[in-house]
Amino acid sequence: MNLEHKINIIRKFFDIDKIINKSTTPEDISRYYRVNKLAYWLFHSKEGFVHVGITREDKFKKEDLLEPLKKVEEYIRKSKSSQKVKVLELATGKGANINYLAQVFPEVDFFGLDLPSGQVDLAKIAAASLNNFQVIEGDFHDLSQFEDQSVDLVFIIESLCYSDYKSVVAKEVSRVLKKEGYFIIVDGYSGPSKETLTVIEILTKKLVEKGMLVNNLEPYSKVKRDVLNEGFDLIEEEDVSKLVIPTVKRFEKSADLFFKLGFLAKLIIKVLPDEFTHNVVSGFLLPDVLESGYGVYFISVFRKK
Ligand SMILES: C[S@@+](CC[C@H](N)C(=O)[O-])C[C@H]1O[C@@H](n2cnc3c(N)ncnc32)[C@H](O)[C@@H]1O
Repeated sequence: MNLEHKINIIRKFFDIDKIINKSTTPEDISRYYRVNKLAYWLFHSKEGFVHVGITREDKFKKEDLLEPLKKVEEYIRKSKSSQKVKVLELATGKGANINYLAQVFPEVDFFGLDLPSGQVDLAKIAAASLNNFQVIEGDFHDLSQFEDQSVDLVFIIESLCYSDYKSVVAKEVSRVLKKEGYFIIVDGYSGPSKETLTVIEILTKKLVEKGMLVNNLEPYSKVKRDVLNEGFDLIEEEDVSKLVIPTVKRFEKSADLFFKLGFLAKLIIKVLPDEFTHNVVSGFLLPDVLESGYGVYFISVFRKK
């Protein structure tokens, strides 16, 4: 199905202008995740992962959701400290990433930060049964709850895209990290910018972003520069854009089934919150964005100088 045809289907069900004009303040983002807590559990991960899987074999399997954490595990092993190693996850979501890591590394202290009133209550429940996982409410642009050079490794999975001020985040991460500490980012970006975009391409980008309440997916090269400018070296990066396609194909399939409900789908859109139903739009378009190279997904590891 080509993009134009997909946009026409979306147009039959949704008010496109309403989607692309959505506000994306931290309060809106919290509400989005509060509303979608159950949906992500039902349709995505019972373990509470709120990111896509990285599929290195041909078919998606549940374990692919652990793949971004393998890179974090590798660098926790490389982190050496005279005291206990301290790891901070920005945007910990439901706390599923640390819930997993804290059991692999019982000797490491983990801190998970996320916005209040979203899904952080579930992270607190996960943390309650572990004595090396502490949940902190806050905004990742302000890490004042952490002292200078107090953390060995910071990681953030599929969440830096929510920031329009990534250099502010990188500056804060650089401040709290010890010398030679690691900063691992796993995220989606817009692809290399083309000189001219078609109307359909511009609309697709906006719909994908706003369906997930992201204000503006920036190009990977720009975000990388923002981080490097705050006193980091890039030590490794992997373009995994094609490896996340099996996960997003699942979203596309669900969206396609949803649209096939016809009148019932229209009724669902009317009664359920936009934060929930607009996900269908992103899910429907994401495979096209990745397959065309118009969207990319990277694992990047930086080290503080
Ligand atoms: C796609 S989820 C990812 C959650 C988690 N990292 C994971 O992999 O399961 C995005 C998360 O980013 C959080 N977030 C967005 N903007 C934030 C901000 N400014 N400060 C802290 N957390 C933020 C949201 O509340 C949400 O929990």
